[in-house]
Amino acid sequence: MKPSFNVRQQSEIYIGPASDILSGVLPEGRVVIVSDATIDRLYHPMLASYDTVLIGSGESIKTLQTVETIYRRFIELGVDRSTFVLAVGGGIVTDVAGFAAATYMRGLEFGFISTTLLGQVDASVGGKNGVNVDGYKNMAGTFTQPKFVICDPEMLRTLSDREFRAGLAEVVKSAIIADAELFSRIEAATFEALRTDTDLLTDAVSASIRVKADIVERDERESGDRRKLNLGHTLAHAIEKCSNRMNHGEAVAVGMALISDAAVKLGVLQPADRDRIAGVLGGLGFDLTPPVDVKRLLKEVGKDKKSEEGMLRIVLPVGIGDCEVRTMSHDEFSALFA
Ligand code: GLY
Repeated sequence: MKPSFNVRQQSEIYIGPASDILSGVLPEGRVVIVSDATIDRLYHPMLASYDTVLIGSGESIKTLQTVETIYRRFIELGVDRSTFVLAVGGGIVTDVAGFAAATYMRGLEFGFISTTLLGQVDASVGGKNGVNVDGYKNMAGTFTQPKFVICDPEMLRTLSDREFRAGLAEVVKSAIIADAELFSRIEAATFEALRTDTDLLTDAVSASIRVKADIVERDERESGDRRKLNLGHTLAHAIEKCSNRMNHGEAVAVGMALISDAAVKLGVLQPADRDRIAGVLGGLGFDLTPPVDVKRLLKEVGKDKKSEEGMLRIVLPVGIGDCEVRTMSHDEFSALFA
């Protein structure tokens, strides 16, 4: 089977049945799996013949301690530089396992089977991996491309509605950033149709990956266009820090709605386009009310450890399928929500 995308001639992205694709892409030699208990149970027949390292689940395990646990298990299992690491799971598993593989013995080769919608359209593609430090998101990590990423839309059937919807936030994000036609297709679809119609879902996954692959092709290390993939994320990260009521995708949906309002206020987005963005997100079932007061979110943004020389890089939608990155101070950003 041919890959659907090849990112930077280093990372092949396959969209299709994982069990068929896997045997064609795994290298000869030893393979070790990193996964979590739920995935191991669901896909046991496909993974049973390999040594497996299981990690926990949830954002709270995305830490250096978990990476250290993986290193220790690798040492016990006699993993060496010739071993290939296959991470099977959602964005948290691929972020943590990718980081462990990229740094163990100064770097092993690795690939992913991405099992959540959020992982398939965003987290597993593009070579970022890492962990949170003291609750600050992705403070330690590397840019290392996985040799392959397998995205099997059939695997998304086991997700809860809530987890599936969280992934749709990143699909809508890709559409707002760079694919007006994808946006229109989602606008015309329902949550139920996206959940059940494999062709529609495969199209949404593929179009979103195309947006990301194109951007990463131009800017792997996020010194330019890749910043656009952070649309809605400045406020989303603050929401995740201030409240545990929302998962990442839900927080990104709120962040995109708030920044669309701000873009209208700045005069760079037409109110009708803002209404379409809020309409699509609301139609997919997202609650767009911030779980805590926006003032508190802005205070949290002020503590952002990743601001560059005190300045924020804010992604503003300027139309459906188009956005721009503006550098602004925390005061300028806060004024947009006064
Ligand atoms: N999730 C944003 C990026 O990969 O750049």
